[in-house]
Amino acid sequence: MYLALRSTLAWALAVGPILANAASLQKITSDFGPNPRNVGFYIYVPDKLAANPPILVNPHWCHGDAQVCYAGSQYSTLASKYGFIVIYPDSPNTADKCWDVSSNETLTHDAGGDSLGIASMVRWTLDKYKGDPKRVFVTGISSGAMMTSVLVGAYPDLFAGGSAFAGVPYGCFAGDGYGVWSDACATGKVTKTGAEWAALVRAGYPGYAGWRPKMQIYHGTRDEVLNYTNFGEEIKEWNAVFGFGDAPTSSTPDTPVSGWTKNVYGGSDWFQAFSAAGVTHDIRNQENTVVEWFGLTCTGADCFQWGQGGPTAQ
Ligand SMILES: *[C@@H]1O[C@H](CO)[C@@H](O)[C@H](O)[C@H]1NC(C)=O
Ligand SMILES: *[C@@H]1O[C@H](CO)[C@@H](O)[C@H](O)[C@H]1NC(C)=O
Repeated sequence: MYLALRSTLAWALAVGPILANAASLQKITSDFGPNPRNVGFYIYVPDKLAANPPILVNPHWCHGDAQVCYAGSQYSTLASKYGFIVIYPDSPNTADKCWDVSSNETLTHDAGGDSLGIASMVRWTLDKYKGDPKRVFVTGISSGAMMTSVLVGAYPDLFAGGSAFAGVPYGCFAGDGYGVWSDACATGKVTKTGAEWAALVRAGYPGYAGWRPKMQIYHGTRDEVLNYTNFGEEIKEWNAVFGFGDAPTSSTPDTPVSGWTKNVYGGSDWFQAFSAAGVTHDIRNQENTVVEWFGLTCTGADCFQWGQGGPTAQ
């Protein structure tokens, strides 16, 4: 018994450091900055990190959590391959694990809500790992897509790009309080002009007149949870924010999936909208397309970064 225990201990000591070095999802419990809503902070830091690593933020969907989101996509595998860090925030809303995309606080730069907790995670990670402040990106599905729009809208200084799958426009869930579900928005009853949507986005960071992150959206035409109308509203919103016309500058069928149509708006490949024919809310993630467009597969000197190309002040 004693010997068995000892040999177990010896084995644990011998392989311990190896196990400790094998990258896995970690929870950060130290103080990482303002986090008024107590959003959980999980992070995946690959063993082989790029110099000044880029950061990808991947908020989960409703009824999901950081662990499930981490396990359910290719992002950690791609992070290990290319050396970037992935932040998996965890919603404090235990009732349905949806994100707070409704409160004025979350919709406003550095004002509070879930978005501020996530912004603090990004700032802490940049500092701790000497991350590249010009290569921070965000992507998510459903509630994670809504949070993507919120972060891109309220923190255009922090993110270089966003990719939202089956979400809604920034500001569409705006309501009285934290984590309020908007049936009107979900069912496609909230429609505005592009100018009205853009005014909401601008109000997310009053006085900000700088560069805006590039944006990519995906939506199934048969989405039964967040009606496809929201896709058209998002197109109006981001086109107005960027100052682009409403007509696509290019349209490519069967991209990246058969039956999906990729529309590009404006110049510089700045805003992409993928319409997925016949697809419900259960839309398939496209990790490779996303990381490639963010330039996270780029390991050279001229990788896409914040402030590069695209429209400037709006
Ligand atoms: C939203 O919050 C900001 C910052 O706290 C505040 O300046 C603004 O007046 C608020 N807007 C509304 C509509 O409550
Ligand atoms: C989306 O909303 C439109 C307009 O109300 C409706 O006709 C359509 O059936 C809805 N789509 C789904 C998949 O529920």
